[in-house]
Amino acid sequence: MRILVSGGAGFIGSHTCVELLNQGYDVTLFDDFSNSSEEVVSKIKEITGKDLKCFKCDMKDKKALEKVFKKDKYDALIHFAGYKAVGESVAKPLMYYENNLFGSVNLFELCKKYEVNKIIFSSSATVYGLSENMPLKEDAPLSVTNPYGRTKLIIEGILEDMAKAEKQFSIVVLRYFNPIGAHESGLIGEDPNGIPNNLMPRLLDVVRGKAGCLMVYGGDYPTPDGTGVRDYIHVTDLAEGHICALRYAFSGFTGIDAFNLGCGRGVSVLELINTFEKVNNVKINYKIVDRRPGDVAENYADVSKAKSILGFTAEKTVEDMCRDSYRFCMKKENMK
Ligand code: UD1
Repeated sequence: MRILVSGGAGFIGSHTCVELLNQGYDVTLFDDFSNSSEEVVSKIKEITGKDLKCFKCDMKDKKALEKVFKKDKYDALIHFAGYKAVGESVAKPLMYYENNLFGSVNLFELCKKYEVNKIIFSSSATVYGLSENMPLKEDAPLSVTNPYGRTKLIIEGILEDMAKAEKQFSIVVLRYFNPIGAHESGLIGEDPNGIPNNLMPRLLDVVRGKAGCLMVYGGDYPTPDGTGVRDYIHVTDLAEGHICALRYAFSGFTGIDAFNLGCGRGVSVLELINTFEKVNNVKINYKIVDRRPGDVAENYADVSKAKSILGFTAEKTVEDMCRDSYRFCMKKENMK
C-alpha cells in the first residue's frame, strides 16, 4: 500500500513517515522544504533502513503537484503540509490563506481526479478556540483566534463538504494537542527555522545557550501552580495515531470523522520545566512574566473517542518527551 505524505519532512510528518515505513507501507513524500530540510529524508532512511520516494514540490503549484500524482497510484494521502506559526499568521494572513488553503484545495482536487479516496488531515486543537470546558471533546463548539487556526478550521470544513458531496471518500481529521519529543535515535526532531514560538523549542534554545532565559507566560492562571496547562503528546505516539487513523480509513468507513490526539492529561509549564531539569540533569533559567495574549489557562483533550474507535492511546510519559527532545537537540548541537 503506497501512502502519499504532504509535508513529510516536517516535525510530525517525518516521524509519521518512519512509523509508516516500519509498519510496511510504501511512502512517497513531498515537501517544499520551506520549514524543513532535505537532510531529514536521509535520516528517515537511516532510521528505518528502508527507501522512500521524495519530491520537492510546492502544493500551490498544481502542475508540479499533478506530476507527483502521475508517478504512482496512491492508496491514501496524509496531509501535513502547511504554515504553522501563529504570530506569523497574524502578521501575514494572506500568505497563510494562499499557502494552506489554495495548496490544500489543489491537493484535494487531485485526490478526486486520481481516486485517492482516503485522506488523513493534520488539524489542531486550535480549532477549539478559547473554550474553557475541559477536557475538550470532539463535538465541542469550534472557533478560532488567529489566521493559522482559521486555515485549519476552513480545511476541516472543505473536507466535510467533500465528504458530503462525494461518497467515495473516507476522511479522518486529527486534532493534535501539543506535540513535543523526538525520535529516540536523536536523528529527527523539531527543528523550526528562525525564532520558535512554542514552549519546548524555546526551552531547548535556553538549554543550548541560544537564548538567555525562558519566559514563562503567566504565573497567575487559575491552575495548580499558576502557569498554563497543556496536553503534551510525544511525537512518536502522534505518528502511531496516524497509522491507527489509516487503518480506520481502510476499515470500510466512509464520510468524515474527527479525533483528538493527546494524552488526556494537563501538564503545567513549571511541571514541564521541572521534569526536563530532572531527567536531563540540567538547569533551566526561567522567569515568570505577563500572560501571552490569546493564551488560555488550560487546554487538554478528552481522548476517549480516539481510544474507542481508533484503538489509539498515547503511551509515552512527559519524562520520555523531555529526554528525547533533549537528546535530539544535543545531537544536533554536537554535529555543528
Ligand atoms: C500554540 C498556538 C496554537 C497552535 C500550537 C501549535 C498560540 C497562542 N497558540 O499552542 O494555536 O496550534 O501552538 O503547536 O500561539 N509558553 C511559555 N513560554 C514560551 C512559550 C510558551 O510560558 O516561551 C507557555 C504558553 O503560555 C502555554 C504553554 O507554554 O501555556 C504551551 O505553549 P505553546 O508551546 O506555544 O503551545 P500553545 O500555546 O498551546
